[in-house]
Amino acid sequence: MKGLIAAGGHGSRLRPITFTLNKHLIPLANRPMIFHALDKMAEAGIKEVGININPGDKSIEAACGDGKKWKMKITYLEQKGGALGLAHIVKNAEKFIKKDDFVFYLGDNIILGGIKRFISKFEKEKLDCLLALSRVPDPERFGVPEIDDNGRIIRVVEKPSNPKSPFAVTGIYVYDNKIFEAVKNLKPSPRGELEISDAHQYLIDHGYKVGYEEITGWWKDTGKPGDLLEGNQLLLSDIQRDLDGVTSDPYVQIQGKVNIGKNSKILGRSYIRGPVTIGEGVIIRDSYVGPFTSIGNKTEISGAEVEHSIILDEADITCKKRIVDSIVGLNATVSDAHATLPSGNRLIIGENSIVEL
Ligand code: G1P
Repeated sequence: MKGLIAAGGHGSRLRPITFTLNKHLIPLANRPMIFHALDKMAEAGIKEVGININPGDKSIEAACGDGKKWKMKITYLEQKGGALGLAHIVKNAEKFIKKDDFVFYLGDNIILGGIKRFISKFEKEKLDCLLALSRVPDPERFGVPEIDDNGRIIRVVEKPSNPKSPFAVTGIYVYDNKIFEAVKNLKPSPRGELEISDAHQYLIDHGYKVGYEEITGWWKDTGKPGDLLEGNQLLLSDIQRDLDGVTSDPYVQIQGKVNIGKNSKILGRSYIRGPVTIGEGVIIRDSYVGPFTSIGNKTEISGAEVEHSIILDEADITCKKRIVDSIVGLNATVSDAHATLPSGNRLIIGENSIVEL
């Protein structure tokens, strides 16, 4: 069994963060999102993984390396021609997969449990394709299966206006080689992509065995900023308390599951209430950091309150305002308007930024 992870695309719904950072490298619980997909592959015993990347993108390789960290071998597969759909990624990976079975995993999907049971079911039932399904309130945003009275998938439709079941086809799939026949026979959809749902429909129409398994725990496709905060929240509920290597002043309070990296200092009357993860070389002074917050390396937070937010590396937050449900990009500054004259809100914000004052 091999693995294939999708880590290309433009992440346009996550701009401005994705103008300079591949979406799959956005940290959740202070680790690049794609690491969670690699963890799942490693846990399932997969030793050879291909990662699909945008042509010329070196950032994913710089972060994930050769795979030794996960006791696997990673091969980087450039998606020639650009982001032309998920089925195109599969087509592009044929030379790497060869005759093996494989798990295809969208690098922006986050799940709590493992993927082993999907592989076991695929093998036990000798399926050609296994789809991991998740019950969602808004199936019209996803690929949606139609399931008959015998519990068989008879149709898969991409983003249907009239969903025939409450399930989303999640971004975790197990395939054998029949999928290559399917992707080679597809025509681009109206949005100009080779749709993975069309490949599944091809398999069904040609009598191949398409099965499914429901994800009963948590699943999230982190397409939009709110999803990132939820994904971060999910992963933070799983962390352990670890305060080794932290310097803190006598009146500092650190409560619950809080994980703090090396050379970080918590100073003054700061109050940290977990679950919270704080990176290395961070300085927090006279501030409150509330539940479900991730703070990147070398960030400085002074006199502020931050809760349910993702703060990337080297950000600087020095203001009396309460910051909630926010994503603060690399090296960004949030400061008090009163610190400099004339008073007023001074903004230097990139395209597609959102500021609520
Ligand atoms: C893609 C697939 C869709 C699937 C979803 C899961 O959607 O096309 O079938 O349900 O991933 O994350 P997209 O993220 O391209 O909108």
